Amino acid sequence: MSNKTFTMIKPDAVSAGYTGAILDHIIKGGFKLVAMKYIHLTAAQAGKFYEVHKERPFYGELVDFMSSGPIVAAILEKDNAVADFRQLIGATNPAEAAEGTIRKLYARSIGENAVHGSDSDENAAIEGSFFFSGLEQF
Ligand code: RTP
Ligand code: MG
Repeated sequence: MSNKTFTMIKPDAVSAGYTGAILDHIIKGGFKLVAMKYIHLTAAQAGKFYEVHKERPFYGELVDFMSSGPIVAAILEKDNAVADFRQLIGATNPAEAAEGTIRKLYARSIGENAVHGSDSDENAAIEGSFFFSGLEQF
């Protein structure tokens, strides 16, 4: 799955009305939409998605935030997708994100940071299949 990554437009950005602008930024960045859905995660579902961060101090806050409102989840395709998408979104903390990146433009804080991007090919595959069946990928 080296040409695919997984993203979510997080509740802060959806509720602020940035969904269209962020999708446009992603598409103009050369990514093709392979799958997409608009969904409100339960706390249990958000907790399972972020299970790798269970021991981190911000886990409870992260789960509450990610289940606080609807998100847009998507699988994206492009050569070198994982690394190129991390570059497009910028650093986790928007204060440290490069100019022109999605987090620099749309994120509020290190916790409410507008978008998710997978950190490896392996996690991109795991995260994509958490949200989408084979029938939902094009
Ligand atoms: P993501 O997984 O969402 O793409 O973000 P990331 O790789 O840049 O950052 P990661 O370390 O995986 O953290 C996952 C998400 O947890 C929240 N977070 N809050 N309060 C904090 O110090 C803190 N640190 C991380 C963010 O929402 C981050 O994106
Ligand atoms: Mg991460």
